[in-house]
Amino acid sequence: MKLLHIDSSALGANSVTRELSAAVVARWLDAVPGLQVEYRDLDAEPIAHLTGRSLAKADPAEAADAERSLQQFLDADVIVIGSPMYNFGISSTLKAWIDRVAVAGKTFRYTENGPEGLAGGKQVIVASGRGGFHTDAPTDFQEPYLRQVLGFLGITQVEFVRAEGVAYSPQHRTDALAAAHASIKAPLRLAA
Ligand SMILES: Cc1cc2nc3c(=O)[nH]c(=O)nc-3n(C[C@H](O)[C@H](O)[C@H](O)COP(=O)(O)O)c2cc1C
Repeated sequence: MKLLHIDSSALGANSVTRELSAAVVARWLDAVPGLQVEYRDLDAEPIAHLTGRSLAKADPAEAADAERSLQQFLDADVIVIGSPMYNFGISSTLKAWIDRVAVAGKTFRYTENGPEGLAGGKQVIVASGRGGFHTDAPTDFQEPYLRQVLGFLGITQVEFVRAEGVAYSPQHRTDALAAAHASIKAPLRLAA
């Protein structure tokens, strides 16, 4: 069984989502003997933004990285994504990754009956961090976006481990992190 762990916070050791994504992965490692984990830190090692040069495969190193990232995504049974809210949406580094894994003919396709996701059967856990409170609010362009784009790829098993209001005060941050840790569920699938 393979787990892909993605982080995308720019806040390094002070990051809420890095702490939470690591805790989710630790739970999976505890529960699934032999679990293979691959890690990509999109802040330390960003994927190039998608441009016309990317589509033309003008840079072989960039094209190879995009190919590797898509393959990692396709191979994963479980994906843990650290997603901070930046300016009401996801981080641009995470968006750049999504642009490389949402690939027509590989992870989705259009048919006469509409779009069809080709990456079904995976489980995704998103470790979400926000400075303010946005759950079920029209200001949330982060979690609903992730649910939409993952659903478009066929992934319907999506859970959020969320710490929000972390910028209100140190106590808010402590309480939100504690609640988020407590909300981490035991993995459902235990076979490696
Ligand atoms: C560049 C930047 C933009 C942010 N934009 C928002 C925002 O639009 N709404 C919000 O509630 N919090 C915002 N925040 C606060 C972050 O969501 C919060 O710090 C969260 O913990 C980020 O996750 P991280 O700690 O893993 O980076 C922003 C933080 C940064 C650094």
